[in-house]
Amino acid sequence: MMNTDFRGKVVTVFGGTGFLGRYIIDELASAGAVIKVVTRHTPSAYFLRTAGSPGQIVPVYSAYDSPSDIDQIIQGSYAVVNCLGILIEHGKRANFDHIHTELPAWMAKACTAHNVQRFIHISALGIDQSQSAYAITKLLGERAVQEFYPAVTILRPSVMFGTEDHFFNRFAQLAKILPFFPLIGGGKTRFQPVYVVDVAKSVVHALCDIHSCGHIFELGGPEILTFKDIYQRLLGYIGKSRRLIPMPWWVARIQAFFMAILPCPPLTNDQITSLQTDNIVAQDAYGLKELGISATAIDNIVPHYLNYPTAKKD
Ligand SMILES: NC(=O)c1ccc[n+]([C@@H]2O[C@H](COP(=O)([O-])OP(=O)(O)OC[C@H]3O[C@@H](n4cnc5c(N)ncnc54)[C@H](OP(=O)(O)O)[C@@H]3O)[C@@H](O)[C@H]2O)c1
Repeated sequence: MMNTDFRGKVVTVFGGTGFLGRYIIDELASAGAVIKVVTRHTPSAYFLRTAGSPGQIVPVYSAYDSPSDIDQIIQGSYAVVNCLGILIEHGKRANFDHIHTELPAWMAKACTAHNVQRFIHISALGIDQSQSAYAITKLLGERAVQEFYPAVTILRPSVMFGTEDHFFNRFAQLAKILPFFPLIGGGKTRFQPVYVVDVAKSVVHALCDIHSCGHIFELGGPEILTFKDIYQRLLGYIGKSRRLIPMPWWVARIQAFFMAILPCPPLTNDQITSLQTDNIVAQDAYGLKELGISATAIDNIVPHYLNYPTAKKD
């Protein structure tokens, strides 16, 4: 049994208000850590405080605009967890270079300067294969943290599922309004969806296990599914039947071109590039098993939160 006792230790979490972050906070709070949740908007972190006792979870503001700001925040931490990430660029401060590469480098330098004992960096599966700007900047981020804090533990999850996920929920919503689903590139891209709680537990286990230092872990669930399989599985869960229509890559790119005028486009050219490579765990990679986690199946979780009143076919 792993000793996951963090009583009295300060763990600083960047991106703790996000989908994965909130589960990491839950796990760390149960383990007794004092948690600094770094956010651009402190009220958005208040909801996290109920996961711990009074004063255990403390929102900390950052505009993420200087290395000295990051340095001050990290000072005094036992461990740092970075789960910042964006899928779409917006203006100057929400750009891939800054969020995925520059900020992790600043964090890694501060971790070394302040003798932080553990640094966990959340990356993403498949970034060493893809040519998307998302993947390239994430990979550069990995290299930067390894350069400035060689003992960093890097976790690369596949697409994550869980109550607040941006993936299954979104397609379930779309299934309500669309008479068909487009299968971009024929829907052949392979994924290995992983449960967000398994990823959050991996963070805590990695923090407790000194052998995880300096390693990359690829985190995937128990099943490899194509995009088409995922749609079919989802439609089964919500009791709907929809036509699945193959869409050539070039048609998807034209769509993304026009969607680019929207403030929050549902599909970007960069996401299409990401879809052109598989998102599955390499055969020789360290993974959930090495971190002492057994992977949870989609069938055990997703149908429970899609919240469809019946599974009546239409
Ligand atoms: N979700 C997935 O399926 C998936 C799959 C593979 C890898 N990942 C990686 O896992 C990590 C966590 O993903 P997630 O889905 O939990 O992310 P998320 O919910 O989209 O966001 C994580 C946090 O990033 C912060 N953030 C967003 N935009 C920012 C900006 N412009 N500047 C600074 N901070 C910003 C937000 O914190 P505040 O608003 O509080 O500042 C947010 O809580 C990321 O590194 C992501 O790339 C996710």
